[in-house]
Amino acid sequence: MKEVKIESTLFIYESIDELSLDIQSLMEQAIEARKNAYAPYSNFHVGAALLLDNGEVIIGSNQENASYPSGLCAERTAIYYAGAKFPEAKVVKMAITAASQNQSTNTPIPPCGACRQAIAEYEVKQESPIEIYFMGEIGKVAKSNSLANLLPFVFDKSVL
Ligand code: THU
Repeated sequence: MKEVKIESTLFIYESIDELSLDIQSLMEQAIEARKNAYAPYSNFHVGAALLLDNGEVIIGSNQENASYPSGLCAERTAIYYAGAKFPEAKVVKMAITAASQNQSTNTPIPPCGACRQAIAEYEVKQESPIEIYFMGEIGKVAKSNSLANLLPFVFDKSVL
């Protein structure tokens, strides 16, 4: 038996102002996208903006449903649309922001496990890392240089 330790690195910025201007702009677009969240059940609004290598920005927000599992997270709404509209493009960067109507979210909110799995698929498909920036409504922003950092022991096509 041997112990396996997994390490992963995140970079924490004090606020959106500490980000480079291009990421600030991407995060602003995620914040705008968040305003179109349809979340009457959770009151938790999430926005995502993806920058593609063709220069396009694709946005998404969470879309809920009275049949709860039929809803979809912001990140998957965005990345599936990117795949549908620009199947040859690579996703370079992704900005995510979440705001609850019930309480203040001032810490970085990471993508859920299902979204990490979905993003991982595109990272494997495009054979290049996706930079992920995530925040709450205000405050610190966390950055991961790759989705792989957020999902150790990924399940991907290599095992199929
Ligand atoms: N949600 C997202 O949009 N992204 C995540 O990564 C986590 C959760 C949404 C799903 C649901 O509409 C609401 O937030 C509460 O879970």
